Amino acid sequence: MKADVVLGSFYGDEGKGKIIDYLSQTADFAVRFSGGNNAGHSIEINGKKFAFHLVPSGILNKNTIAVIGNGVVVDPKVLLEEIKQLKDNGYDAKNLRISDKAHVIFPYHVQMDKLQEGLRGNQKIGTTNRGIGPTYCDKYERCGIRMGDFVNKRYEEQLRRNIEVKNNIFKTYGYETFDADKMLEEYNAYADILKEYVVDTVALLHEAIEQDKKILCEGAQATLLDIDFGSYPFVTSSSPTVGGVCTGTGIGAKYIGEVYGVLKAYSSKVGEGPYITEQDNEIGDQIRELGYEYGTTTKRPRRCGWLDLVALRYAVMINGLTGLAINHVDTIGKLDKIKLCVGYKKDGKVTMQYSTDIEEIAKCEPIYEEFEGNFGDISHIKNREDLPENAKKYLNRIEEVVKVPIKFIGTGAGRDCMIVC
Ligand code: IMO
Ligand code: MG
Repeated sequence: MKADVVLGSFYGDEGKGKIIDYLSQTADFAVRFSGGNNAGHSIEINGKKFAFHLVPSGILNKNTIAVIGNGVVVDPKVLLEEIKQLKDNGYDAKNLRISDKAHVIFPYHVQMDKLQEGLRGNQKIGTTNRGIGPTYCDKYERCGIRMGDFVNKRYEEQLRRNIEVKNNIFKTYGYETFDADKMLEEYNAYADILKEYVVDTVALLHEAIEQDKKILCEGAQATLLDIDFGSYPFVTSSSPTVGGVCTGTGIGAKYIGEVYGVLKAYSSKVGEGPYITEQDNEIGDQIRELGYEYGTTTKRPRRCGWLDLVALRYAVMINGLTGLAINHVDTIGKLDKIKLCVGYKKDGKVTMQYSTDIEEIAKCEPIYEEFEGNFGDISHIKNREDLPENAKKYLNRIEEVVKVPIKFIGTGAGRDCMIVC
């Protein structure tokens, strides 16, 4: 049995949670491999809405072990809140496992995130201010604190050193400084509660592979937010692409099976940076309202626009996508006319090559094809053949251009509103 992977194809918020929720119903293990509580997966089950930022959403299935892999950065306070959200709703967290190698987010990381954003002036990245970037910085700087050391209270010396260094920076910029004793007292209490969940997840997952268990790797963020392959610097600080699965879980490449790329029938983006098919006009506003495009993590209104197949083809290449999952087909079908970007015009020539170089991408103009909308209510449809002709034409064209089969079609917000092809 191989580990299947669900990834975001664009700038995040593609509705990965919906596909993950479906696939994890039969998964023995659901694994997060990158990012932290900058992610937001919302799932609706029996009319109840859950928003997870950190805990793999597979936890909602009683038989699934939910793993926070070593590539994730963990804010203990947020994690404790999510455990509470589960318990308050009649679920429990006994199936949660956290990698001993995952790094811990401390309040100085959150403040450093704010400080750095402040210094960027009008070149802001638009981070989620959750301390994600600074925590990964410390990891690579080798002054980070890992979950194993945290819950076993082997982190005091490192924490004191970190606070000393960072307080000097905070003082320089007139920010609040932190008291090491107070932080130790507060965080030791969190460590005590979280200790029961922390294990060697590499060993755990390999045992699962040996026993032929089904593993699902849940992506957070997305391809164009990747630290290497995204539109740097408007990216997150980890690898949400397929490579992140190997480094963020310890699952080797030969154990990876299907790689599903999730996208919406339109596109959206949070934060700054280039976005070729953005509709900064009434159409964008209409899409935002129809699709309720507001951040799960920050509640920010998302920038909205048409689907970009040049960018999608890039995601196909980088991740070796084996299938597509396309959400919000119902939403786009509420418009009269739909546009689909099937290429770029650059220096007078047509190209299918995506560039993450901001100056290069600024020279590109989208080439659109127009489709008829008005799909009507498709939420009950269970077979692709039963979709209205207009919807079929749109979906067929997407497959034709990027040459990857559509495996899932999202037809509404509810858990069951999906066509499995
Ligand atoms: P999900 O999992 C959308 C964006 C931020 C910002 C940039 C860097 O819900 O798809 P960071 O706080 O990570 O340093 O911010 O990345 N970003 C996301 N945008 N969905 C997400 O996650 C995101 N996670 C980070 O808005 O532009
Ligand atoms: Mg999000």
